[in-house]
Amino acid sequence: MIMKRLSIAVCLFAAACGGGDDGDPDVEQEPTAYEDMTFEQRSAFMAEVVLPEMTELFVAFDPKFSTMSCNTCHGDGAIDGTYALPSPQVPPLPPEEEFEEYMQDPENAKWGMFMLEEVWPEMARLLQVPMYDPATHTEGFSCANCHTVQPGVE
Ligand code: HEC
Ligand code: HEC
Repeated sequence: MIMKRLSIAVCLFAAACGGGDDGDPDVEQEPTAYEDMTFEQRSAFMAEVVLPEMTELFVAFDPKFSTMSCNTCHGDGAIDGTYALPSPQVPPLPPEEEFEEYMQDPENAKWGMFMLEEVWPEMARLLQVPMYDPATHTEGFSCANCHTVQPGVE
């Protein structure tokens, strides 16, 4: 099972499954997928891949993110070493029923679109995890993996 998942992940990444031998297979060998990594491997993967890739994305949105760090997403978790997410220091999002109203604010809408179209899919791609599907409520990576969500009205 694990092996199958692994080989699928490697396939997706290398985009060279089954056929083609345009390269040394040893060189094409991919590291473990995020989900199968140890905490230390995850940490290294964040530093080597996630932070540089996400900095590029965020800087294109706003140059102030050139100094982006582990803190930007992990908040205090980057200081205490847990790297737990969602981080209370990432601005909390409103509950689903207030989301539309929240997005009426042009500033929130601008951020929301950037998150929706770029940050969310890119992060899921880097982690090689499926995205949450709002239509079917299929489990997966979502805004709430990084953001806390304010409690809604009962
Ligand atoms: C763009 C946002 C972002 C940045 C920047 C970022 N991370 Fe992460 N990190 C994540 C996400 C998302 C996860 C996956 C959490 C999950 O499972 O939902 C994660 C997971 C981790 C984990 C695994 C935590 C666990 O419980 O297994 C570690 C360790 C980690 N990050 C370290 C770092 C370090 C070190 C840096 C800086 C070099 C960093 N991260 C930068 C978003 C980020
Ligand atoms: C990989 C982690 C991650 C994911 C996934 C993510 N965000 Fe964010 N988002 C952030 C970070 C980090 C910031 C704050 C950046 C900063 O320091 O100003 C942010 C900021 C925002 C802001 C601006 C809030 C404010 O008050 O300034 C909005 C709105 C937002 N996100 C909405 C969303 C929505 C909607 C989704 C899902 C479609 C989403 N985010 C997914 C990490 C994430």
